[in-house]
Amino acid sequence: MTELFAPFAAITLSRQSAHSLNEQIALHIERAISLGVLPAGSRLPSWRDLATQLGVARGTVRTAYDRLIDRGLLCATKAAGTRVVEVLPILMPMPPAIQRNSGPSGVTSIDDDGPLALFQQRADRPLAFQMGVPAHDAFPATLWARMHRRGVQASALNTGVMDPCGLPELRAALASHLALARGVYCSPEQILITTGFRSGLAMVLRAIDSAGKQAWVEDPGFPITRLALESAGVHPVPVAVDREGLDVELGHTIAPAAALALVTPGQQAPTGVSLSPERRRALIDWARQNNSWIIEDDYLAELHLDGQASPALAAGDGADRVIHIGTFSKTLAPMIGLGFVVAPQALVKRLTETAWWLATPPNNAVQIALTHFMREGHYFRHLRRTRQTYTERRDLLRDTLLRCGASLPQSAGLSLVLPLPSGFDDVQLAHQARTVSLGVTPLSAWFARGSRARSGVLLGVANVRSERVEADCRQLLTLMHSTL
Ligand SMILES: Cc1ncc(COP(=O)(O)O)c(C=O)c1O
Repeated sequence: MTELFAPFAAITLSRQSAHSLNEQIALHIERAISLGVLPAGSRLPSWRDLATQLGVARGTVRTAYDRLIDRGLLCATKAAGTRVVEVLPILMPMPPAIQRNSGPSGVTSIDDDGPLALFQQRADRPLAFQMGVPAHDAFPATLWARMHRRGVQASALNTGVMDPCGLPELRAALASHLALARGVYCSPEQILITTGFRSGLAMVLRAIDSAGKQAWVEDPGFPITRLALESAGVHPVPVAVDREGLDVELGHTIAPAAALALVTPGQQAPTGVSLSPERRRALIDWARQNNSWIIEDDYLAELHLDGQASPALAAGDGADRVIHIGTFSKTLAPMIGLGFVVAPQALVKRLTETAWWLATPPNNAVQIALTHFMREGHYFRHLRRTRQTYTERRDLLRDTLLRCGASLPQSAGLSLVLPLPSGFDDVQLAHQARTVSLGVTPLSAWFARGSRARSGVLLGVANVRSERVEADCRQLLTLMHSTL
């Protein structure tokens, strides 16, 4: 069945109705057009196909189509079949707005006007200053396309069942990469290939049976993580982050028996601080004593701009309590849709079982492409070049901001933070900036509700372009000053 038929899947016809069968079909199609489910120009199934699907005579569908042609909603040509007209009559009712805030009670849902909508940026190309997306112009598109073609060719005849834990060759290539790049020594069997951080997190939360339990989360921290935990039935407990990262002692005080802690120890999101050696030890000690798990979100992995990347938690002593989650969303591109989980030995069996029951393996061709990309040394080279590009862009952005009269911005991972006076509505500023295509992120949105949110804007450095940076900075500062 093709997508052509999707709007018709729910047509239920009644022979007892006051309306004839053709009228019922016509009404249904009209409704689908008014809701935008059948957009302008879309093709309708042939009389014969729809009649077979609905169990009516061909002539019934034909009459329904004719009614709608007479009303100016459909048009028919021999060559292109029956279609929705390109320009709908003005009297056509407008489709009702799609309900947004209808999540189950107690669970935060995406609110178009609120700060969370700012984390839902979906576009082919990133905006200037947008955080969390790699540089559009640094992605090795030609090379990747070549690798991908090889993947498509190699997998074209592979029509069997795929291992939901991922392609063995990719798991092996990743195990080698992690040992060299992150000091994480694991066997390919400990690795589960996912479609990114979020799918890895969902799988892990299921595997460790976390529903109904408490989880320490960083405050400020990635809002999507808090929402993901809530929707999996886990209770996030915000624990403050300071210059040394997560305040482990505070976590101990407010939720000593939490079942897990979810941290970004390499470069904390969004402050960029790395978890100090003392705090790392304290966190591991707590997890061991309490039999809790630490989920390490290594989203930036080896993409550090100053000095050496801080080691992965899963690389050190205590790795037996650490579940390491990685993603290629930052180091390559979100559209690749690949990530991974490194499970400690004790969890391998459980996680493998969870994957077999719940996971859909990522696309085979993409997995093959990434395997070649890693094995042939392209990934290491790409990371080196990207680090260099981002460092140059960050320095350029900082210099430009200062030249344009901004106060000294603070460095935070792959972003710069411009602090704002307390109480300043940084969410509104970010929304205003979107209207002029500047993708800044409000700092307050990273804080848990009711906690000590600070105001500021985060400016991602990845997509700073030398020919536009001054104009972009001036525009942002003008917006800021007009609201101050
Ligand atoms: C802290 C953090 N973790 C993980 C991710 C990546 O998630 P995914 O791999 O699901 O795209 C992001 C993306 O913005 C992030 O900011």
